[in-house]
Amino acid sequence: MTYQCIITAVEGQGERKTGLITLNRPKQLNALNDQLMDELGQALLAFDADDAIGCIVLTGSERAFAAGADIPTMQPHSFISAFKSGLISKNWETILQVRKPVIAAVAGFALGGGCELAMMCDFIIAADSAKFGQPEIKLGIIPGAGGTQRLPRAISKSKAMDMLLTARMMDAVEAERAGLVSRVVPAEALLTEALAAAEAINSFSGPSVMLIKELVNLAYQGPLKDGVAVERRYFHALFGTEDQREGMDAFINKRKPEFTQR
Ligand code: HXC
Repeated sequence: MTYQCIITAVEGQGERKTGLITLNRPKQLNALNDQLMDELGQALLAFDADDAIGCIVLTGSERAFAAGADIPTMQPHSFISAFKSGLISKNWETILQVRKPVIAAVAGFALGGGCELAMMCDFIIAADSAKFGQPEIKLGIIPGAGGTQRLPRAISKSKAMDMLLTARMMDAVEAERAGLVSRVVPAEALLTEALAAAEAINSFSGPSVMLIKELVNLAYQGPLKDGVAVERRYFHALFGTEDQREGMDAFINKRKPEFTQR
């Protein structure tokens, strides 16, 4: 598949590989227009459907992960045209259908829709150059892809209100302290670190990986009681896999497990 606004590649040494997606509208700091979001949706679903891929890394450029939705495209809209067209591509939410882990590797600006897209990934590894923000208020609008909902869950109400109402940017150190990102690494090591995290995930049993993703999302979105009950059932279910027997046998016999994804 040839894309205009993203670049895809397959990375990794192990049996299962990593699908790498790079946002690629450098002149516009990776501003997210419909074409980019449609291509991103297609690429994500293609990697998700590929049994050779265990994990996906989504990244941008050194200067910007993405500086938000494309402002000139949005500017002419009225309420009626925005409401009737949906304004943004339906593929803004495609990433939420992906069952394999998606790691955001963020350097530079992750603003507005760029910050929202990073928050839709399963975790964020930030370069020390990363800057996060929801500056929509400066444009006379508000976030439209979950920013007002995911940011307070990620970093607390007070910090989220501060970011959303003042439009200030948060640097990588503050983002890690606030819990928005899982780790901060030197900018030059960002991709290596993100691919290494993906490779670690790829070495494990795929069913365990997918169920952990589903359950953590349940913890994030639903009541505790329901999440714990579903977790127990899935925990039981994994005793039907060969990987569970292999993993435990390897531990007992002090050897490295060889997972077969069965
Ligand atoms: C389109 C954008 C853009 C955007 C930057 N550019 N952000 N184009 N949409 N969101 C373009 C600029 O117009 C410029 O093009 C080029 O990228 C470089 O940007 P500069 O402003 O010259 O760079 P710099 O001075 O370094 O400032 C970087 C910046 C600033 C701080 C990121 O560009 C900025 O504030 N951008 C807007 C950020 C924003 O408001 N995002 C939220 C958008 S609303 P030219 O042609 O002039 O060189 C949103 C709603 C989401 O995301 C809704 C959910 C779907």
